[in-house]
Order: sequence, then C-alpha cells, then structure tokens
Amino acid sequence: MSEAKRKQVLSAIQPTGDMHFGNYFGAVKNWVALQEKYDCIYGVVDYHAMTMPYNPKKLRTHTWELIFNLLAVGVKPESLFIQSLVPEHTELCWIFNCFTSYGQLTRMTQFKDKSRQSEETSGGFISAGLFDYPVLQAADILIYRADYVPVGKDQEQHLELTRDIAQRFNQQMGKEYFVLPEPLFTDTPKITSPADPTRKMSKSAGEKHYISLFEDEQRIRKKIRSAVTDTGAAAEGHMSPGVQNLFELLKAAEATTAYQQLLDQYHDGTLKYVDLKEAVAEALIGLSRQFKARRAELLADKKAVKRQIKESSARIRTIAQQTMRDVKELCGLQQVRY
Ligand code: TRP
Repeated sequence: MSEAKRKQVLSAIQPTGDMHFGNYFGAVKNWVALQEKYDCIYGVVDYHAMTMPYNPKKLRTHTWELIFNLLAVGVKPESLFIQSLVPEHTELCWIFNCFTSYGQLTRMTQFKDKSRQSEETSGGFISAGLFDYPVLQAADILIYRADYVPVGKDQEQHLELTRDIAQRFNQQMGKEYFVLPEPLFTDTPKITSPADPTRKMSKSAGEKHYISLFEDEQRIRKKIRSAVTDTGAAAEGHMSPGVQNLFELLKAAEATTAYQQLLDQYHDGTLKYVDLKEAVAEALIGLSRQFKARRAELLADKKAVKRQIKESSARIRTIAQQTMRDVKELCGLQQVRY
C-alpha cells in the first residue's frame, strides 16, 4: 500500500522583534507540534510588515531575530522561509488583485481596525498596501496549495477571502487549479496580560503586559509575582481572570502535577496565590532556560544558520515558481525563461 501524501500546512508570522509566551502558547507551540503530522511551511512575512509605517533597519534585524527565536523553540529550519526571498508571492498578489472584489476588501475588519490605528500613529496615512494586505496573504497560502492554515479566529475573514479568490480564479480559468484551504483553529490557550488580565498578552500595550520567552529569570519572577489575581470583585465559586490566566499558563507549560494539585487546593479553598505564582514562575523559567540555551547554540554559528535559512527559502521558492508558471500559463501571460 502506498503511503498517502501528507497534507500541506502553511502559516506565517510578521517580524515584530521579541516573542512572548502569549505568541508561543497561542500559536508557535502548535506550529512545532503540527510538524509531526503534516508537511509544514512557515513564513516570516516581511512584505506584510511594510504595510504600516516602519523602520527598514529594524525590519531586517527583526526578521532574523524572529528566525532565531522560531528555531530556538523547535520550528525545523527546512520548514522556514523569509517572504522577501520568495518574490513570487508579490507577483501572485498582483494577479489575485484582479480576481478580488474591491467591496469585499473594504469589509475586512483587520483593515478597519488598523486604519483606525493609523489615525493615531501616522497622521491618518493609510497605505494601499494595508488595504491589499489580505490579498498578499491569499498568495502566501495558495502559492503552496496549502490544505490547512493554522491561525487564530481573528484571521477567519482573511481565510474566507482566500477561498473566494481561489474559487473565482478556478471558475474563470475553467480549471480546479487552486486547492481551497481550510483554517485550522486549534484550541490554544488565550494568554492574558499579567498586569491586566482582561486584555491579551501583547507587546504593544507596554513592558508589563507581556513576558518575553528570553527575558531574564528575575524579571519573569517579578512579573508573575506582581500578576493581578483577585481584584476583590471575584464572585464566590467563580475564578477571577487573573487566577484563571495563571492556571492557564501552568497548564500550557505542561506542569501537569503542580497544575492538578493547585487546582484541587483552589477548589478546597486552601490555595495560596503565592504558591500558584511560584509554580508558574518556575514553569516559565524552566521553558525559558531551554529556549535560551538552544538560541545561544544557534547564535554561536549565526552565519551557518542564516545560510541554512536562505537555502530552505530557495528550496521553498521552487514550489512557488512552479505555481507561478502554471498560473501565468492559465492567465495568458508570458513566461520568463531562466
Ligand atoms: N495576517 C496574519 C496575522 O496577522 C499573518 C499572515 C500573513 C498569515 N500571511 C499569512 C497567516 C498566511 C497565515 C497564512 O497573523
């Protein structure tokens, strides 16, 4: 019996410096796990990072920092590519622009949110790139014929648009060329800010609202110790968001025994929050140590790692180039002969 071809998974992340436990438990840990079951391609999407005002030097350093961070937590180098090393994404994006409904793009909630932000951060300048962002995302996905796209619920609308583009293209070309990708909404923990457990852990909210994977141990301990627990408003028998978040972190860090014991204590009414916080701090520090050690190894031979990622990007590019040849053939465009 021949082995069935493994399903193709594609996901991507924007290069924005540091990675925190919210990113890790909410998405990247799942990327690592999916590598066991599927063929996975993961992109660091630097073209997407240009859609809002940005700093070119920082873009380049953040791109490589993110690559090292992803490798340190267990993403395989052969799965990884940098988007600007596969320029076919932007070429396909143009073609897809011609198969995308302008009206549908105006209804993208991420565009509306981000353009509202621009009012505050860049004097109201909204680039056409920000508007077109979801079409480039569709190109990222379809160019590799991804079956599954692990993303958060906030990306559902972009996935729907991607399927619509694929369908419109297929229909106009009279050929079922593009695979219609499905989102993979894995039930990942939603980690909140230790300083304000009603909001997501996020860098943009400021230093005390996130814990970096590579933060020093004292700082991790301090942030967990000062995490908000009960605000006094917690109803009897109802866990407050801050306490819930601490348990969520413990579970996500796979400190199963401590998790079970402390949860039992919580239900008995004997739990001391300092014990819970100690256990969470220990668990996060333990993980952080592993990640730091792995990252230090990688950084010791920075050149070799960069070369490896450029090679894997080049290999992944050959898939994208094949798709572009097919697409240009179907669209009545000319082929570049290399
Ligand atoms: N838009 C995604 C986000 O904000 C990032 C992204 C870009 C992406 N291209 C993608 C995600 C392709 C999945 C597939 O998180």
